[in-house]
Amino acid sequence: MLDTLAEQSWAESSTVWNSDFCKELAQECQRLSLQGQLKKAAIGSGSQKNVLKQIRGDFTLWLDPQGSNEIQARFLSAIQQIQNVLNQSFYLGLNTFETHFAHYPPGAGYDKHIDNHRGSSARKITFILYLNENWQHGDGGELSLYAPTKAEESETPRIALLPPRLGNFILFRSELFPHQVEKSMKPRLSVTGWFRNDAL
Ligand code: OGA
Ligand code: MN
Repeated sequence: MLDTLAEQSWAESSTVWNSDFCKELAQECQRLSLQGQLKKAAIGSGSQKNVLKQIRGDFTLWLDPQGSNEIQARFLSAIQQIQNVLNQSFYLGLNTFETHFAHYPPGAGYDKHIDNHRGSSARKITFILYLNENWQHGDGGELSLYAPTKAEESETPRIALLPPRLGNFILFRSELFPHQVEKSMKPRLSVTGWFRNDAL
């Protein structure tokens, strides 16, 4: 995965995470979702904050390292290890990460966007771990990844269509790739996050 990431600035693998662990994490996400702990995700920040169903339809819950239970703590510690490995291979100065559970109800998606407009935030690498068993062709909810844009707003070809299948793990350079979550036909669960390079 590291070689591919070095080569093309994005990579996918279904062998990084143990599938029993992914099933436990999926149950945890389901449990929190059923309890109503995931909240409608907003776009923008401060007074610009808007809940726009047409842009993104997911519900999210940020993981809190302080308040985490055992399964969450195991996930956070694995992500910390991945951050260390990335720092050994690349010179991105990753010093922290943020991560949330996400639930897209049927009919929801997330329009094409970039996670970090060049230089506007400290997000360097996006990670996504999908948590959906038995995802079928036709269930939708794929992640469409588009080639990096040179000029803002320019259209680039789609380079990947990735199904959100249990255990699929995606990494990409946050500032390079426009991406979109295709409309999902079934409830779609994931953990998504960002390795950051914050000023110390
Ligand atoms: C995001 C996002 C993609 C996915 O949360 O910013 O683009 O496949 N998620 O869940
Ligand atoms: Mn995104």
